[in-house]
Amino acid sequence: MKELPCTKFEKKLLPSNSPDHPDSHTEKFYGRRMGRPLRPKTQELLERALPTYTFDVTLASDPHADFDQDAQELWLEIGCGGGEHLCAQGARNPKVNLIGAEAFMNGISLMLRDLLDRDLENVRIWPEDVRPLLDKLPQNSISRAFLLFPDPWPKSRHNKRRFVNGKNLKRLARLVKPGGTLRIATDHGDYREWIIQRMKEDKKFKPLFSWDHLPTERPNDWVPTRYESKARAQGILCTYMDFERL
Ligand SMILES: C[S@@+](CC[C@H](N)C(=O)[O-])C[C@H]1O[C@@H](n2cnc3c(N)ncnc32)[C@H](O)[C@@H]1O
Repeated sequence: MKELPCTKFEKKLLPSNSPDHPDSHTEKFYGRRMGRPLRPKTQELLERALPTYTFDVTLASDPHADFDQDAQELWLEIGCGGGEHLCAQGARNPKVNLIGAEAFMNGISLMLRDLLDRDLENVRIWPEDVRPLLDKLPQNSISRAFLLFPDPWPKSRHNKRRFVNGKNLKRLARLVKPGGTLRIATDHGDYREWIIQRMKEDKKFKPLFSWDHLPTERPNDWVPTRYESKARAQGILCTYMDFERL
């Protein structure tokens, strides 16, 4: 497997005025980057393995060039947490290339462990805010996008931080190819209504379900995620919405 620069090193290598530099992005990121302090072993894992798995942003205009195979499809998961869905989909779909974006280092370390255990070569990690990456990948380059249990930002003064908004839907509409799909799942009632409202206003994605019967059963190809499992254990209703890019 090839060696790729880790963000930590990439930031050192790229001049700060480079348009590829993650800090050149001006939208504020409100999520957490770090939780509990990492154990020395985990820190070592990040330093050793993250460079190998980090998506090379300098290849963003031809994303498959960063993979060992020239696959027909590229899938993108936004906010993949501990990577359980990303890694399982990567293992189930070896002919697909996948990028998982996650800014929370503790989650990234879990994902790395899983990738190494499964010896997956068709998965790359974007260990940063996904939005600058969305602006760099080519139009119509994504066949499937996943946004699973995005942060609900429940306080009304924080609602504007929610990932589902007009600007991000526009970004996704540019990336997801016609006929491709966007899957959004949530366990949060208020965010569900917010998503419904925005997706109904959106003219680029059509629901693959009836608005009168929101899907509350897991889709056939579903992989349980950490947040979904927590919600179900508490008896909270989850909604799984698939949309097709028109
Ligand atoms: C509620 S968690 C859900 C994690 C996982 N999808 C699951 O279902 O278990 C939302 C995740 O999205 C990540 N996230 C939020 N905004 C992001 C962004 N702009 N770029 C990358 N990751 C983001 C957060 O760091 C967090 O880990």
